[in-house]
Amino acid sequence: MDEYRNPFNPGAGVSPPELAGRAEVLEQAITALERVKRGRHAKSLMVLGLRGVGKTVLLNEIAKQAAGRGYLTEMVEARDGEDLRQMLQQAMRRLLLALDRGEQAVEAVKKGLRVLRSFLGSVTVSAGGVDISLDVDPEVGLADSGQLEADVTDLVLATARAAEAVKRPVALLIDELQYVSKAELATLIRAMHAVNQAGLPLVLFGAGLPQLAGQAGEAKSYAERLFEFPRLDRLSEQDAYAALREPIIEEGAAVADAALQEIFQQTRGYPYFLQEWGYNAWNVCAGDTILESDARAATATSLRKLDGSFFRVRFDRLTPGERDYMRALAGLGAEPQRSSDVAAAMGRKGSSVAPIRDSLIKKGMLYAPEHGMIAFTVPLFDEFMRREMSLV
Ligand SMILES: Nc1ncnc2c1ncn2[C@@H]1O[C@H](COP(=O)(O)OP(=O)(O)OP(=O)(O)O)[C@@H](O)[C@H]1O
Ligand SMILES: [Mg+2]
Repeated sequence: MDEYRNPFNPGAGVSPPELAGRAEVLEQAITALERVKRGRHAKSLMVLGLRGVGKTVLLNEIAKQAAGRGYLTEMVEARDGEDLRQMLQQAMRRLLLALDRGEQAVEAVKKGLRVLRSFLGSVTVSAGGVDISLDVDPEVGLADSGQLEADVTDLVLATARAAEAVKRPVALLIDELQYVSKAELATLIRAMHAVNQAGLPLVLFGAGLPQLAGQAGEAKSYAERLFEFPRLDRLSEQDAYAALREPIIEEGAAVADAALQEIFQQTRGYPYFLQEWGYNAWNVCAGDTILESDARAATATSLRKLDGSFFRVRFDRLTPGERDYMRALAGLGAEPQRSSDVAAAMGRKGSSVAPIRDSLIKKGMLYAPEHGMIAFTVPLFDEFMRREMSLV
């Protein structure tokens, strides 16, 4: 069918034509938004899930819902090796400048900007603090202690007070939160705790790989009182069918049940893969109904494309030692494995491969579903590895 009209969107963070199976978690987010706006206590969300399950897309949707409810929104992405101070100073600067109404200076907003100025003062050159300038004096005694927790709390509280003063609630959304260090995560949670206790209209939504829940729990024991940790997973058969069928019908075409079944079986309902298969099945289809044969052709095309890009770029970023570890893990099967079994499969002692495992976790390739266990963060990566291994 006409590629120009193809409704499917395989890609990172690009909205699907049909956001299937996420109504419940979206409803939780909306409840938090409505309550925070009214200065009421609300549990916010840290959305967890493997690669490509739709975390970024969901955060985008939450941001959209927030904006529709009068929120000022700011979405940032944490990066491996980047500093929390650097990330926050940019985000808070944009928020405070947006809250600033210029002429009719509101004192709380001015104060927020002065606290930000103090915060910048304590930022080291290596943290990138030099490239931001603000035309206000620092607020002496706030956000200038040089201690991360105290300073971040001062800055976030001052921003939240500014939001309250101009009656503009603020939603801060942070993606890839697993890249934030444990100390930094503790800091963020502490700051949100302070905002929450003061009943101020600022809310934080986060998203990250599954290990984020453990990191947050270890970071601050009260994390669970501040946040829900909904787990985004692959879609159920019914939701996966809707994700495929609705956009096709919307475009005036149709899809056979057998085609849906084939795609579900191949993708296991993982959102990113559903988009990829849907896209290829649409393109290969010669009539106006996607048939099982089209779905099978899409399987071949999709696997070739994924092996050449999605899986490949991740694999190519690894060191030889890390690749060996990934091979050993894949060789044991698709399920989470005991770390000790992986070491044994490599013919090595657990302690000698632990640094490799840790660097793979840090790179976001693996996670520990429970103590002593290890699994891939990228769905179907084990199958890619097995295809890869039979080639070498
Ligand atoms: N509920 C859904 N229904 C159908 N498709 C979806 C859904 N959620 C996400 N997708 C599709 O899945 C793909 C991946 O989404 P997204 O980038 O949000 O995943 P992610 O969890 O952020 O991945 P990563 O961990 O790699 O950042 C996109 O092509 C998106 O359109
Ligand atoms: Mg993402």
